Amino acid sequence: MTTESLVLNGSDGQVAGYPPAGGPIQSAITYEKIPTHIYADAKNASRAVAHEIAELIRSKQREGKQAVLGLATGSSPKTVYAELVRMHREEGLSFQNVVSFNLDEYYPMEPDSVQSYWRFMREQLFDLVDIPTGNYHVPDGTVRTDEVAEFSKQYEAKIEAAGGLDFQLLGIGGNGHIGFNEPGSLINSHTRLMMLDNSTRAAASSDFGGLPKTPRKAITMGVASILNAKRVVLMAWGERKAPVIQEALEGVVTELNPASYLQTHPNALFVIDEAAASQLTRMKAPWLVDSVVWDNSMKKKAVTYLSLALNKPILKLTDRDYNDNGMSDLLALSGQAYDINIDVFNQLQHTITGWPGGKPNADDTNRPERAKPAHKRCLIFSPHPDDDIISMGGTFQRLVDQGHDVHVGYQTSGNIAVADDEALRFADFVVDFNSKFGIDSPEASRIFEDAAEFLRDKKDSEVDTPEVRYIKGLIRMGEAKATCRFVGIPIENAHFMNMPFYETGTVAKKPLGEADVQIVMDLIEEIKPQQIYAAGDLADPHGTHKVCLDAVMEAVRRLKDKDFMQDCWVWLYRGAWAEWDIHEIEMAVPMSPDQVMKKRLGIFKHQSQKDGVVYQGTDAREFWQRAEERNRGTAALYNRLGLAEYEAMEAYVRWKY
Ligand code: F6R
Repeated sequence: MTTESLVLNGSDGQVAGYPPAGGPIQSAITYEKIPTHIYADAKNASRAVAHEIAELIRSKQREGKQAVLGLATGSSPKTVYAELVRMHREEGLSFQNVVSFNLDEYYPMEPDSVQSYWRFMREQLFDLVDIPTGNYHVPDGTVRTDEVAEFSKQYEAKIEAAGGLDFQLLGIGGNGHIGFNEPGSLINSHTRLMMLDNSTRAAASSDFGGLPKTPRKAITMGVASILNAKRVVLMAWGERKAPVIQEALEGVVTELNPASYLQTHPNALFVIDEAAASQLTRMKAPWLVDSVVWDNSMKKKAVTYLSLALNKPILKLTDRDYNDNGMSDLLALSGQAYDINIDVFNQLQHTITGWPGGKPNADDTNRPERAKPAHKRCLIFSPHPDDDIISMGGTFQRLVDQGHDVHVGYQTSGNIAVADDEALRFADFVVDFNSKFGIDSPEASRIFEDAAEFLRDKKDSEVDTPEVRYIKGLIRMGEAKATCRFVGIPIENAHFMNMPFYETGTVAKKPLGEADVQIVMDLIEEIKPQQIYAAGDLADPHGTHKVCLDAVMEAVRRLKDKDFMQDCWVWLYRGAWAEWDIHEIEMAVPMSPDQVMKKRLGIFKHQSQKDGVVYQGTDAREFWQRAEERNRGTAALYNRLGLAEYEAMEAYVRWKY
């Protein structure tokens, strides 16, 4: 148990579920075994970490000493480095007295390769500040295999000679690795060559153009090397890190989750955002940790939690169950278990509807959607060309079958997720066709010939040419059109928006720009929908869904005073990567076994995303499998709570803008 476990509000405020307060909230009890700071978002959190590092550098400067930093790579520390660079440029923070040692490097790896951590560090930090060349160290991915052991010894010796690490910055892998100390690493391990875990390779595979090309080894500082640092700060952003963060903080110390070793460090801190904190007891069951405000949302959260934890349908929960499980104050406030049970059960019952566009001529008092107008214009925003069918295919089909005018806005081209051999197959098809029959446009022939030539000799680190990207985009567009035909909407109702932020040809995207928002606004104004569906699925690995959602939200905010918007409801779906928590769901659309099968066939139209896709992420299942398991899981949860048993369900939360 620790005392320094705070929930820190970022600029945008209160963490859900806690009583309003002016400053950080001190938890009464905590299940976390390492001090943990939770911020509303990664930006605020990174700023705090960067400021701690800056303060260390400055205080060492005042003492005339060097600050010895252990640094990490990956997506998590990028925002920290950006803030340090800003402080260097705007506030004169000097790195002259900084000596740094990076945690790891892929092996083998050339330093100037695009994927090398050496290059990452130069581009993110070293070349942008005044750290003297020679003061920074990254394990060398070019040493001969028989020299790695000696190199590793020297690396440790250099850290020691510099006086040991004053500060170690860490990210965490989805499997709990710190540095590249994969599960199984011992607490006394030192710098060494490490075999990468399959999940680590899968997570990195998007940087290397697929799993087969992803390195199998890395040189990494050991667990003992990390624990020797005087201060250790571990960062984690996003929902995908939530389970491993919960285990590291609340579970036992185990080599199966190397981050849990930090429980043994006297001066470690976890700095995480709300999404990464979402599985912690203080977030999942805050009433077990401190007093809470029992508003309706908290009540639903607690009752569903209790029912699932005790494996007892809601209507069977007793006063004793509430009292024994830290919910006696809710009982005292609301009367008996019977009343609370019925209230929450009814609320859940009312979320279920087979009429996602509203049921014509029905009393809609207790239905999630309005009965009128009976036939609505619905606009589904699909971040990638397949999210509509993967995440809400059952609902999409019902809306069409129930006579609504359904449009889909495909927000990005999704072109980076098409494998080279797939694109080459299509380019060859066109080149061969043209060479047999000739074609009027030399320009068109050139595009395909150039693309085919480029793809045949493409190097792993090369970024696709505009021609190749165009072909890859066409492939995905064709697949989306096939899905629309399959579901039964006219092709004119498929709108390919090609938002510019996405068009970098690499995994890293541009930030959301004015042009992106304008494209979304234009489509909304053109359709004037009564229903908008948007992906609220923030756990997607490359952040595209988040940018697409930001664009929709910004467009809706700007349009909200227009007449047609007074009649427009916005529903957020999830699906491919995560699902809403059961207590959050405001509309649940059930599916029969036949409907599940039809959805599967609709997903199959996206052939380029089947059978070993480029951006698989750490989940080895194909998209149709993930969607089905997710939808079956949601239905099973409703059933466990004591509601009717359905085959599968898609779930939505309404955004009241
Ligand atoms: C990187 C490193 C790794 C990463 C971890 C998380 O130097 O040592 O442990 O910190 O894989 O990576 P991201 O931050 O990309 O999720």
